[in-house]
Amino acid sequence: MLESLEPIVSLAKRRGFIFPGSDIYGGLANSWDYGPLGAQMRMNIKTDWWKQIVEQRADMVGLDGAIMMNPKVWEASGHVDTFNDPLVECKKCNKRFRADTMSGDEKCLKGKDHELSEPRTFNLMFQTSLGKTGDDKGMAYLRPETAQAMFVNFKNVLDTTRKRLPFGIAQIGKAFRNEITPGNFIFRTLEFEQMEIEYFLEEENWEESFESWANWMEEWAASVGINTDMLHRLEVPKKELAHYSKRTLDFEFDFPFGTKELWGLAYRTDFDLKNHEKHSGESLVYSDPSDNKRKIVPHVVEPTFGVDRTLLAMLVSAYSEEEVKGEKRVVMKFKPHMAPYQVAVLPLSKKEELSGITQEIFEDLINTYRCEYDDTGSIGKRYRRQDEIGTPYCVTIDFDSLEDKAVTVRDRDTMEQERISIEELKSYFENKFN
Ligand code: GAP
Repeated sequence: MLESLEPIVSLAKRRGFIFPGSDIYGGLANSWDYGPLGAQMRMNIKTDWWKQIVEQRADMVGLDGAIMMNPKVWEASGHVDTFNDPLVECKKCNKRFRADTMSGDEKCLKGKDHELSEPRTFNLMFQTSLGKTGDDKGMAYLRPETAQAMFVNFKNVLDTTRKRLPFGIAQIGKAFRNEITPGNFIFRTLEFEQMEIEYFLEEENWEESFESWANWMEEWAASVGINTDMLHRLEVPKKELAHYSKRTLDFEFDFPFGTKELWGLAYRTDFDLKNHEKHSGESLVYSDPSDNKRKIVPHVVEPTFGVDRTLLAMLVSAYSEEEVKGEKRVVMKFKPHMAPYQVAVLPLSKKEELSGITQEIFEDLINTYRCEYDDTGSIGKRYRRQDEIGTPYCVTIDFDSLEDKAVTVRDRDTMEQERISIEELKSYFENKFN
């Protein structure tokens, strides 16, 4: 198991998964840009989630709400009053800490112990100005969670889709929090992406639904390549529950910097819909067609996933170091459907004779798989590079390929090589990827 994030951070930069944000300007604290491989993996995560949650379920629909919402939304949701952390600041070095999670063994940059201010309430929502004059009238918040768009659009979705309880709305999008202590690479940032579900149901059914979502979350973790031996359920104690929650399970993961929250599952009751009714004056009731149009405000179970933390847990789970012929081999053992590239096409030589056959194979495979083409450096170095970026299969075309119409396929995990006829290559991969 990794003891520090360092090997992942340096591989991520070296191979093009994740770069420090605004790198050529010396960076920006706690901001990260996803490179070609990281962007592809984030897309793979979101596409797989959306497919399973929205496209393949009759009881779910999708939504793509605006990042900036009417500020009244955040009054109704309770975020203006309660989305706070206790902030303390050292009077000598000006470093800021969360009073509730501060370790106590931190030393002041100006020497000796910190001289801390009294804790003050610090709201985590970012404010921005929509108006041209910059006065308070145009003030808006950047959303701190995607969830509220799903509550605010509950009636619109109900009217347009005629869904019946239980049903859910799902959304993927950016959220923003002015965290007091961001850090640990992409674990806690000010800007991040969430994949959230608001599952609307009758109050008496919440426990059953909660349990079934908890199981689904664990199954999905395994399916995308998160090591489930490193994933743990934590029942959040009553006094630590968010203002809207009656029960929360955190899914914690053994990151190299400690066991920390990866995802969450909350029972939000009817808190949000009731508060939006009160603040907007609009009715957000559901009329039950099977029970004489009985009117209820549905309750909600909310499974929530951070895209960035999902990627980090996948990187940590996949990272492996082995010794091969006295040399270190680093392999990212991603699930094949989640890897940035699924197949690498590698002609042994750049010579003209191989270019036609290589092009044909590449163009044929790229219609179905995410393929990379690489003809630079020795084949050994190219294999090592593909191992480091987690490509499950390499296809090598050599001069014999011109005669025997076959190529060598190398397996990332076993490093075994097989000679496969070009004609059978597609069905060979069909078997492998299914
Ligand atoms: N709507 C409920 C909600 O937002 P949360 O536990 O505050 O709940 C949900 O956030 C998920 O979003 C977390 O489990 C985590 O994966 C991700 N997340 C939260 N804050 C984050 C941050 N500052 N940086 C990266 N991911 C974050």
